[in-house]
Amino acid sequence: MYVCICARVRECELRTAIRRGARSEETVGDACGAGTGCGTCLDRICDVIDEERHTDTLVALAA
Ligand code: FES
Repeated sequence: MYVCICARVRECELRTAIRRGARSEETVGDACGAGTGCGTCLDRICDVIDEERHTDTLVALAA
């Protein structure tokens, strides 16, 4: 499923960029192009960043 239609970025590509260190709208845009067009997807990008941050926290707590 596409998260960003403008840049044709799928959710899995967005999550990969986040897991590789992109943790803001700007760094995600630099990493994969998502959010660099019309901006409609920025709320969803922020939601996915938050989800990945939450996942990192749960993994750290479980370790
Ligand atoms: S849908 Fe992502 S920038 Fe337009």
